[in-house]
Amino acid sequence: MNIPIESLPSPIFLMHEEKLVKNLELMRYVQQAAGIKIILAMKGFSMYHTFPLIRQYLPGSTSSSLHEARLGFEEFGGETHVYSPAYREDEFDELLGYANHFSFNSLAQFEKFQQKLFQTKPNAQAGLRINPEYSTVTVDLYNPCIPGSRLGVRAEDLPETLPEGIEFLHSHNLCESDSYALEQTLQNIERLFGRFLPHIKLLNLGGGHLMTREDYDVEHLISTLKNFKAKYPHLQIILEPGSAVAWQTGYLVSTVLDIVHSKGIDVAILDCSISAHMPDVIEMPYKPKIHGATDPVAGKPTYRFGGQTCLAGDFVGDYSFDTPLKIGDKIVFDDMMHYTMVKTTTFNGINLPHMGIWKKEGVYEHLKSFGYQDFKSRL
Ligand SMILES: Cc1ncc(COP(=O)(O)O)c(C=O)c1O
Repeated sequence: MNIPIESLPSPIFLMHEEKLVKNLELMRYVQQAAGIKIILAMKGFSMYHTFPLIRQYLPGSTSSSLHEARLGFEEFGGETHVYSPAYREDEFDELLGYANHFSFNSLAQFEKFQQKLFQTKPNAQAGLRINPEYSTVTVDLYNPCIPGSRLGVRAEDLPETLPEGIEFLHSHNLCESDSYALEQTLQNIERLFGRFLPHIKLLNLGGGHLMTREDYDVEHLISTLKNFKAKYPHLQIILEPGSAVAWQTGYLVSTVLDIVHSKGIDVAILDCSISAHMPDVIEMPYKPKIHGATDPVAGKPTYRFGGQTCLAGDFVGDYSFDTPLKIGDKIVFDDMMHYTMVKTTTFNGINLPHMGIWKKEGVYEHLKSFGYQDFKSRL
C-alpha cells in the first residue's frame, strides 16, 4: 500500500485519493461513451472534503434527507437531487432552497407538495419513484422490491397517464449489481411502465451499479444504455451510485490493543469497533479483507478481531497471518469508504475514528479528529 500508516493517528478512516481518481476517471468515460449522467448518492459516501475533486467528474449529487440535500447544495454544487420515502411539511420549504430535482415516493406525496414546489421553483423537476418489481439482491434488508416494500409505486397502482408535472421516473432496485441486472431492470421498466416512457423527460436508474468493481462489464453497461437510449432518444438517463464511487478507495486502519486467549482462540482487541465503525460487517453480514491476512490456515498464526466495545458480538471472523501479531501492530481493513463511514456511531462512548486523505501527491492530509463533545452532543 506504500503509505506510512505507523505515523498516522489510530483508528483512522483513510481515503486513498489516487484510487478515488481512478474510479472517477472510469465514471467520466461511462458518461461520455453512453451519453448519460452519473451523480453521487451521498448516503453511500459523504466525505465532503473530496467533493471538489468528485465535482470535476460528476455533475451533481443526490440526497435522501434535508441534511444531505443541504450538504450536497453547499459542498457539492451542480445538480442537487432529493428523494425521500415521505417528505415532511415542516422541512419542505428549506428543502426547496437546496434541491432542484424532487423524486416523490407516491402520487399522494406529489399532490401534497406540487403546488409549493412549482410556485417556489417553476424550473424544478418532479418525478415519481417506481417499483420495477425485479431485483437480484438476495438480502431483504437491501431489496426495495420485496413484497410489502414501501419504496416506489407499482405499475398496477398507477393510472393510465401520469399527472401533469411529473417529468421523470426514478427506479432503484440494485445493490452491488452487474450490468446484466440493469439490462433486466430496463426490460421490466419497459414491460410495466412502457406507456409512460414517451411522455417523460428523464429516467433515473438509481444506484447499485458497481461499475468500478474489477469484474464489472463496463462495455456491456455502455451498450445496454446506448441501446435503450436508441429506443428513447428523448430520455435523459441518470445513474446515482454511492458504493461505486468510493469502491475500494480507502481503509480503516486500527491498532491491536491486547490479545486474549479464549478456549483455544486468540482474540485481538482493536482500538476500533466492528459494531460502531463497520456496522455493515454485522448487518449484511460480510467479512472484510485485512491487508496481509488470509482466511484461517491450519498451522499459521490465526486471530479473531474484536472491537473495543463490550458488545459480545463486536467481532469479525478469523484471519491468519504469516507471523504472530504483537500489541501495537496496525490492522488495515480494506474498502471501508462507502456506507460504513456514514453509518458510524459512538456506541459505548467509543470515539469516532480520525479522518484523513493520502493525497495523490504522496502526502498525508489530516481532515478531522473527534472527541467528547461529538459524543455528548448526540445524547
Ligand atoms: C434511491 C437510492 N439511490 C441510490 C442509492 C445508492 O446505491 P449504491 O450505493 O448501492 O450505488 C441508494 C442506496 O440505497 C438508494 O436508495
